[in-house]
Amino acid sequence: MPRRIHVHFLPSLIPNGTLKNSVAVVIDILRASTTILHSLHHGTRSVIPCLTIDDAQRAAAQSNTKGPALLGGERGGEKIAGFDLDNSPTSYSRDAVGGRTIAFTTTNGTKALHAAADAKQVLIGAFSNLNAICDELISQRNSIDLVCAGTNGEISSEDVLFAGAVVDWFGRLESESFDLNDQARIAGAFYQSTTGETGAGLLNTVRESRGGRNLTKLGFDADISLACEIDTIPGLAIYDPRTREIQYRPKTIQ
Ligand code: MLT
Repeated sequence: MPRRIHVHFLPSLIPNGTLKNSVAVVIDILRASTTILHSLHHGTRSVIPCLTIDDAQRAAAQSNTKGPALLGGERGGEKIAGFDLDNSPTSYSRDAVGGRTIAFTTTNGTKALHAAADAKQVLIGAFSNLNAICDELISQRNSIDLVCAGTNGEISSEDVLFAGAVVDWFGRLESESFDLNDQARIAGAFYQSTTGETGAGLLNTVRESRGGRNLTKLGFDADISLACEIDTIPGLAIYDPRTREIQYRPKTIQ
């Protein structure tokens, strides 16, 4: 039977009950998924995704067992008053986050993670670990659901581009056939037309997206380049809704 790869351009477009037999990959390229991954790669013990600022403050207060937890995230793209860290991947250096737990809340990314919590397994997808994600997905026999976070209920091109990169990666395999929904086909075609054979075009398209323009306006242009660097992190960020934690698993690519 062809393996199912379905893309959802927004969490609200996930048909009810479809994730329970799937691996879900949650995508918020600008910037929650990129930031979570960079943070874990730099030694964060775990990230706790929270829907609200109050939730994050409560989670931080409750998880003080291994040293005080940090608060990270954004509203309107900027650091939340009283938080330790904003939502820029560059803020999550080893010095800043090594060994710490981070209670983390963002406008769209953490909502998308909660929307995917029914899935068998939840991975966080970013261009920084594209190959690790695809390698993990191919090693499992599960259906795949790629969940784009979008921005305040609108589709974000950078999230669709990442979903398209995964569809494109699988499309290059000659050994398997796939059951793609129309959103997966659109995402794959968008990625191919954007990147061409050389991979050029990704950064410009992401920079020109609404999220990209907004980050440039806020002075975070460097985050866009970082978010578009492919395969800089050889590991997985895995969300376990039962423990509420996202943790890092290093991955040797086959
Ligand atoms: C979000 O979750 O809405 C984003 O990550 C926003 C941002 O770029 O800071």
